[in-house]
Amino acid sequence: MSNRVIEGVAGDGTHAAARASGAAAPAPRPDLYTAVHKGLRTFMSETLAAVGRMDVADPAELAGALEQVRGLLSACRHHLELENRHIHSAMEARSPNAAGATAADHVDHERAFAALEANVQALERAGPAHRAAAALHLYRRLAVFVGENFLHMHVEETENTALLWQTHTDAELVAIHQAIVASIPSADMAVFLRWMVPALGAVERAAMLGNMRRGLPSEAFAAVLATVRPHLREHEWEKLARALAAA
Ligand SMILES: [Fe+2]
Repeated sequence: MSNRVIEGVAGDGTHAAARASGAAAPAPRPDLYTAVHKGLRTFMSETLAAVGRMDVADPAELAGALEQVRGLLSACRHHLELENRHIHSAMEARSPNAAGATAADHVDHERAFAALEANVQALERAGPAHRAAAALHLYRRLAVFVGENFLHMHVEETENTALLWQTHTDAELVAIHQAIVASIPSADMAVFLRWMVPALGAVERAAMLGNMRRGLPSEAFAAVLATVRPHLREHEWEKLARALAAA
């Protein structure tokens, strides 16, 4: 899957004052966080639920849930590295120490990744009599990680975005986004798309996929649709198909 697939940068379009006054809202500014964070929030929520409901006496179910946990940790680790390399460095270059709070969170998250992997391994090694306790331990640790990460992403989307909008032009923010997309290996891109595209609203989803279609060969775009379609509800798929046909 090509790295050009998510060239469109999501804008949050939040211009409440303009809307309240009845004036036409200005074009939304580039938003580096919200679309991918919607995907991560869904990935985290569904994985936490999968661990909570898994039958530890069913080897296939247990293995599937633990594979999903490892996939989540891998995606979170990769996302954190991209933010450090591309976004925190851009913030620090224009406003020293501006990334300090969320960078410190990232150090905590890296410790959490290691702890959660240890919890997964402990569950894999546990004998039948100890499996339920090990599963509950993993579930609680994962819940704390998800809770902390939700708060962290809120700070990134509000405080970090406000700073980036003060210190960078739209063209500079789009360039950062493009550098992030270009650096993502194909296999990781497929994972991000699988979680991100279904997590978007219908209008955001149609805009993102419209941008992808303009930037991709038809076979590559078909592969994107095949990746996301199983994770859309039927009426969401039909809306998307109608929007793409009308574009
Ligand atoms: Fe982050």
